[in-house]
Amino acid sequence: MCGIIGYTGTKEASGIMLDALELLEYRGYDSAGIALSDENGGPARIIKRAGRVKDLRLLCEEKNVSGHCGIGHTRWATHGGVSDENAHPHGYGKITIIHNGIIENYRQLIEKYELDGKLKSQTDSEVVAAVLSHFYQGDPYSAIRKTVLKLKGTFALAIMFEDIPGKIYAVRNVSPIVAANTEDGAILSSDVAAIVPFTTQYFVVPELNVVCLSREGIEMYDLSGDKARIDWLTVDWDISRSDKGGYPFYMEKEIMEQPDVINDTVLPRIKDGKPDFTAEGIKDEMLASCERICVIACGTAMHAGLVGKSLIQSMIGIHVDVVMASEFMYNDPVVNDKTLVIAISQSGETIDTLEALKFARKCGSPSISIVNVKGASIARASEHVIYTCAGPEIAVASTKAYTTQLAVLYLLTARMAIARGLWSEDQTKKYMDELLRVPDVMKEVLSQKEEIHHIADTILNAKDVFMIGRGLDYSILLEGSLKLKEVSYIHSEAYASGELKHGTIALITSETPVIAVVTQDKLKSKELSNIKEVQSRGAKVILLIKGDEVLEQEKIWSRIFRLPVMEDEFMVMPASVVLQLIAYYVSLDKGLDVDKPRNLAKVVTVE
Ligand code: F6R
Repeated sequence: MCGIIGYTGTKEASGIMLDALELLEYRGYDSAGIALSDENGGPARIIKRAGRVKDLRLLCEEKNVSGHCGIGHTRWATHGGVSDENAHPHGYGKITIIHNGIIENYRQLIEKYELDGKLKSQTDSEVVAAVLSHFYQGDPYSAIRKTVLKLKGTFALAIMFEDIPGKIYAVRNVSPIVAANTEDGAILSSDVAAIVPFTTQYFVVPELNVVCLSREGIEMYDLSGDKARIDWLTVDWDISRSDKGGYPFYMEKEIMEQPDVINDTVLPRIKDGKPDFTAEGIKDEMLASCERICVIACGTAMHAGLVGKSLIQSMIGIHVDVVMASEFMYNDPVVNDKTLVIAISQSGETIDTLEALKFARKCGSPSISIVNVKGASIARASEHVIYTCAGPEIAVASTKAYTTQLAVLYLLTARMAIARGLWSEDQTKKYMDELLRVPDVMKEVLSQKEEIHHIADTILNAKDVFMIGRGLDYSILLEGSLKLKEVSYIHSEAYASGELKHGTIALITSETPVIAVVTQDKLKSKELSNIKEVQSRGAKVILLIKGDEVLEQEKIWSRIFRLPVMEDEFMVMPASVVLQLIAYYVSLDKGLDVDKPRNLAKVVTVE
């Protein structure tokens, strides 16, 4: 889950790498480091420390480092605590290395190559440097091949050899690496975001291929030593999407971008007023023939899946399971060729989702993935991929990726209904018209952000917050609650309001604010009664309700936000924006680092 960068060219490498590491910091931010090599060869100069990239930048200025070839790393600790020694790069013999991933057999490697007492850090990564050093006798490809065959686990490695100046070698298994030519050399990274300032052409390094970057460009070889073909991709997002665009935090910018990115995701997929996935190669037979659907995802992406479940079950009438990808394998999953598997992932790299998808494919399940990052592992591992067009999502807390995932699920549900002959032309038109209204409705909510800010102020000092709702409202709140927890550190729980009285209502006091969402006409009276139950236990209720209807009940809220009216199944969209903004403003007003909450990383490539 770390960020890696490598640059070689005619420019000063340290500045390029430090800027890139700042962009990659969302992947991990407990320590950072760079190594620079000299044109004449010789040991690389390593500068690293626990702390943020800004601290590393100061250290580099102090040490006045320079060089035209280098590798850099921002860390999310797995093996070995957060310390200067455990920060990357690691040097061993003639090798300097950075690593993202986990080497599972590092203990066995320490024994086999008698490394006990010879390592400076507690990391599995330094072990890889030592094994490489063991095999290195002047031929980098041979040393890399021999080393890779000894490794068990996941890795993205960037390597410099002290006697091969100006060149960076890289290889990966599962953990991502993308690479690109620049005007004057070449660059690699764990994420396209770091490459976008240089070029729009890049490629995903295929697993177990070795790339070599130099001023002359990039070469790639497979593990048997044959030259491999590079499949170039084009970044199709605008470069301005990777800066903060004047907002104090990426999270706010990404929340505000939602109307545009939903249009970008939906509009190209509508033909003759109907959803169309021919560009993705998804045939109607696939959508018509499945008997069951299994959604696999983690965190926010899984919450999008829960909304998809409600949509598909209510409109198509087939059973949908939404499974936490990390639990999928341990529950003896029953999936087969009649189960359509939908994997949802912003990064496309979440290892649990990837492994679950691979397992389902082995069982013969047809598969579609909904992914934001082009060419990511999950996209490549599934039969079909529908890309969300959210652009780079840099804030750790997912916002625009979630709502674009929902947009794809709305389209997919509609295509499935058409494929199964369930909808008349009129029904299709009504549904699609409503979907096309979403961006404008979101804009209406976003224009009231100051009002939402005032609402957020009322929970600023709360220790616990409960969120209650039923049906789709409950699904929305699961996501709203996760958002609040991760960026504000306030303990919060989403509860199905009918379930509250079976135990948890004991926790409701006048100190527990309750956010209630009421958007589903058929559930409204029950939801309002449940709100009354918590209010009579002293809770201050923040009510998000559809429309401006005057409620008959006595005043049961202390704050109210009236959501613009849409058909019930689309109310998720405006309600989610309000909950995202509440979480954002609480974090902002607490003075927290909104984009980089503690302990979290954006891309979770460890199980
Ligand atoms: C929360 C959040 C996470 C991710 C989860 C899956 O805001 O972003 O819960 O949704 O780690 O990540 P992806 O979607 O990249 O598979």
